[in-house]
Amino acid sequence: MTMKSFILLALSLTSVHTTTAAGSAAHRCFCQVTGTLDDCACDVETIDRFNNKEIFPKLQKLLSSDYFRFYKVNLNNPCPFWTDHSQCGLKYCAVKPCTPVKSGILTILYFLTLFVQVLSLNVSPCSDETRQALQEWKKHDDESDRFCMLDDVDSPESQYVDLLLNPERFTGYKGPEAWRIWNSIYEENCFKPYSVKRPLNPLASNSGLCVEKRAFFRLISGLHASINIHLSARYLLDENWFEMKWSHNVSEFQLRFDKELTEGEGPKRLRNLYFLYLIELRALAKILPYFERPAFHLYTGQPTEDNEKKKLLLELLHMAKLFPLHFDETALFAGNKKEAMKLKEDFKLTFKNISRIMDCVECFKCRLWGKLQTQGLGTALKILFSERQIEAMPNASNTNPSFQLSRQEIVSLFNAFGRISTSVRELDNFRSLLSNLKQ
Ligand SMILES: Cc1cc2nc3c(=O)[nH]c(=O)nc-3n(C[C@H](O)[C@H](O)[C@H](O)COP(=O)(O)OP(=O)(O)OC[C@H]3O[C@@H](n4cnc5c(N)ncnc54)[C@H](O)[C@@H]3O)c2cc1C
Ligand SMILES: *[C@@H]1O[C@H](CO)[C@@H](O)[C@H](O)[C@H]1NC(C)=O
Ligand SMILES: *[C@@H]1O[C@H](CO)[C@@H](O)[C@H](O)[C@H]1NC(C)=O
Ligand SMILES: *[C@@H]1O[C@H](CO)[C@@H](O)[C@H](O)[C@H]1NC(C)=O
Repeated sequence: MTMKSFILLALSLTSVHTTTAAGSAAHRCFCQVTGTLDDCACDVETIDRFNNKEIFPKLQKLLSSDYFRFYKVNLNNPCPFWTDHSQCGLKYCAVKPCTPVKSGILTILYFLTLFVQVLSLNVSPCSDETRQALQEWKKHDDESDRFCMLDDVDSPESQYVDLLLNPERFTGYKGPEAWRIWNSIYEENCFKPYSVKRPLNPLASNSGLCVEKRAFFRLISGLHASINIHLSARYLLDENWFEMKWSHNVSEFQLRFDKELTEGEGPKRLRNLYFLYLIELRALAKILPYFERPAFHLYTGQPTEDNEKKKLLLELLHMAKLFPLHFDETALFAGNKKEAMKLKEDFKLTFKNISRIMDCVECFKCRLWGKLQTQGLGTALKILFSERQIEAMPNASNTNPSFQLSRQEIVSLFNAFGRISTSVRELDNFRSLLSNLKQ
């Protein structure tokens, strides 16, 4: 062998070596994140394409509008399960509430909307007693549909938060306090086979869980994955007197999702993220007629802007509807009617309990996004599993009260989906960052 060809060979070997090594860093996180997903007829590649090219850009535009960026939330509810002592003192955990001026305007807007709604309903006067009864009935009825605890938006403790000023990102919230939350969600509130304690994956043990309970676990795990993708993608990389630099921390991502560093669990968690995506996407497709009602307005008091945003919203929902491989929610809670009802009830109670656990999250920023996302997912489940018709033209002669969503539910639904959509988009970024890694 001549010297020259030896050098060439050596060069080509090293380049082969580096590409496979680099390829494998990406491969180790994404090896199982391809092909069809379990429990549904869909594959990861179709979702990636659909989300990154079509849904994501439109959704971002919608979420930056006034209607969607202000979320009313009570961050001061006490934890109902244990007394928390360590208040999170981390500065990255702080939530900036809206300035009083802004929330003042919104309060006025809110009452104006109510007033306009009352006028447009053209209510015939009825006795206080009837009205009270109707209200109670409606409240109760609505309650039975719900998967999630809603904050009392009228409470003085509730405040508007500008979501664009408080992005979900790295906060430094970790250790025993964060684990306690995740732990009680999985251990006490997730369906799992009783014999297994850890690892937190009932799917691994071939447990014979029914499809609904498996779905429940996957939704929570998908949410957990999304939160952890966000903190890895918006990590505090550098900080000085003048600025903070937030961007991707590839090693943080690997620690959480690399197959070898997570005993094989990481890639499965990413698959659960896609499952969560499908569930929320299906809910959006199903809720379309509700927003097609002519009387529905994204009311902020600026008619031109409001109409434009409604148009954008409908475009987005039509797009969601066209997705070719939707999740089939009728496969859940099917079968024996009585058992199915019981199961649905358990599912609801468990999910409600998880939304209450969010009041125990000590980091306010995390609590904000945790509450918003469980509420959004709860709203998606309400849409998918409500017994009520969701129609474009509510039928007046229909005695069954029609399906209702509150502003808080609407805002949380779309923003929660916005998080998951962003996570799917971020996976693409991490995939390229990992394949460029020099090892
Ligand atoms: C509601 C909530 C919101 C949060 N929001 C933020 C935030 O906005 N910014 C921020 O920086 N931090 C946030 N955190 C903290 C963050 O999620 C982690 O808890 C923290 O970074 C510590 O991570 P960890 O590696 O110790 O494992 P953790 O993420 O705390 O996970 C604990 C254990 O759960 C298992 N696990 C991990 N991921 C999954 C999954 N996807 N599916 C199933 N099991 C899994 C693993 O066994 C892991 O050891 C939040 C925590 C909670 C509870
Ligand atoms: C609700 O969650 C708490 C805290 O994890 C737990 O102690 C309780 O048993 C749960 N209740 C139900 C009904 O699941
Ligand atoms: C990125 O994350 C890793 C793992 O958590 C950490 O050790 C490292 O300091 C982080 N990088 C930066 C620049 O902060
Ligand atoms: C309204 O509901 C009634 C009773 O359910 C039904 O007979 C009627 O056809 C419905 N009308 C429309 C327009 O759907």
